[in-house]
Amino acid sequence: MSKKSFIQQFFKENKMVGSLIPSSRFLAKKMLQHIPFDSAKVIVELGPGTGIFTEKIMAKLAPDTHLIVIELNDVFYHKLAEKAQHPNCHMVHGSASDLKKILHDLGFEKADCIVSSLPLANFPKDLRIDIMEAVTNCLTPTGTFIQFQYTLQSKKHFQRIFKHVSINYAAFNFPPAFVYRCSNS
Ligand SMILES: C[S@@+](CC[C@H](N)C(=O)[O-])C[C@H]1O[C@@H](n2cnc3c(N)ncnc32)[C@H](O)[C@@H]1O
Repeated sequence: MSKKSFIQQFFKENKMVGSLIPSSRFLAKKMLQHIPFDSAKVIVELGPGTGIFTEKIMAKLAPDTHLIVIELNDVFYHKLAEKAQHPNCHMVHGSASDLKKILHDLGFEKADCIVSSLPLANFPKDLRIDIMEAVTNCLTPTGTFIQFQYTLQSKKHFQRIFKHVSINYAAFNFPPAFVYRCSNS
């Protein structure tokens, strides 16, 4: 899917899309390095956009690991659903705030890892709270939450929710991004 398509969606729904162009492969590498591909049975991706992370996650999926990908934007969803052809990849057109129901409807209870590109800082407070509640309710006790943001503004918020929060920096991205890795174990 083209950068042009991403820019078009940004100008249509900038608060929801959150960035002007897709993430770089450097940021993708930093996001993926925290995913426990060897042990995870259920991985969730929130806000895949054009699928820069999705493609790379699918390429590394173990045969018995399922990937649930949730996208709210119509154009991104339909384009990515055509492309994301993998027997264990479940594309869902919906909101991250409905994560619990989405997992349940697909026959899963919890996720071992949730990878999010959601522009949380742009969201109304209530939506941000709903999404983070859904994330914490749906992660296994040893699960990992990985989220990138363009500022350090979310650090305290994540530290209130998770016991462990570490931050990595991806300079080669526009804009440069912080990768948060959060867990309770
Ligand atoms: C910053 S873009 C990231 C896209 C892509 N992962 C990347 O890094 O290039 C944020 C994405 O989150 C999606 N999104 C926004 N709100 C959402 C929600 N409530 N549920 C699911 N996806 C959402 C947007 O449509 C967009 O695709």
